[in-house]
Amino acid sequence: MADYVLEVQNVDKVYGQGETAVQALQNISFKVRKGEFMLIVGSSGSGKSTLLNMIGLLDRPTTGNVTIDGIDTSTLNDNQLSTFRNSKLGFIFQFSNLLSDLTVLENVMFPRKIQGTLQSAAEEASTLLKTVGLESQMNKFANKISGGQAQRVAITRALINRPAIVLADEPTGNLDSLSAETTIHLLKSLNRKLNQTFIVVTHDRPQFGDVDKVVTIRDGKIVEGELEASLR
Ligand SMILES: Nc1ncnc2c1ncn2[C@@H]1O[C@H](COP(=O)(O)OP(=O)(O)OP(=O)(O)O)[C@@H](O)[C@H]1O
Ligand SMILES: [Mg+2]
Repeated sequence: MADYVLEVQNVDKVYGQGETAVQALQNISFKVRKGEFMLIVGSSGSGKSTLLNMIGLLDRPTTGNVTIDGIDTSTLNDNQLSTFRNSKLGFIFQFSNLLSDLTVLENVMFPRKIQGTLQSAAEEASTLLKTVGLESQMNKFANKISGGQAQRVAITRALINRPAIVLADEPTGNLDSLSAETTIHLLKSLNRKLNQTFIVVTHDRPQFGDVDKVVTIRDGKIVEGELEASLR
């Protein structure tokens, strides 16, 4: 097994060309071990979402490499990349993006449907929904639950393929402070319970308390000296 679940090596990202080119990331390198909880912080426009999109294989770096579970993803073609993404990565966004005409359970099973691996998906989805305390909401339609509950469903959906890494971009950005607190508590408890690796972009570093690693981005670069070592 690879030592690191993620290795980002010398990643640059330039948007556009010529005079309008924007260097969104410059020479970004870091490594993450399985089971770590990592934060990406930095001010607006610093490059956090761009970095998360590189790790999430939603876009390719201009130069540099992203290695996930020992696979250098620059060697994959677009088809291979989307299959790899679907099996290795889970995504949580600011908005839960649930499908409103599906039930909570069906939403959680949806990635398995895309993957064509529906066998035992219902049992696994309901087990995970119990873990996050949503067993009583399973058969409700997704537009009939609260915002905080919807985000918990989105978290569960991100876990259904048992991904190597779950990526979250401002997962509490659209929640009131109590729901935000509950959501963070849930992410951290899933991290410990399932040994699930999380990489979370946040504006609010203190809300997360102790984490394994913090990468601070400023103007597309890692701010040296703020790559916090393990606190656990
Ligand atoms: N698709 C794109 N095309 C051109 N420029 C982009 C694109 N996406 C981002 N940028 C630019 O890259 C830089 C980094 O943007 P990014 O979205 O990564 O910042 P961020 O740290 O996530 O900000 P925020 O906290 O506001 O979400 C910014 O200068 C932004 O304008
Ligand atoms: Mg962003």
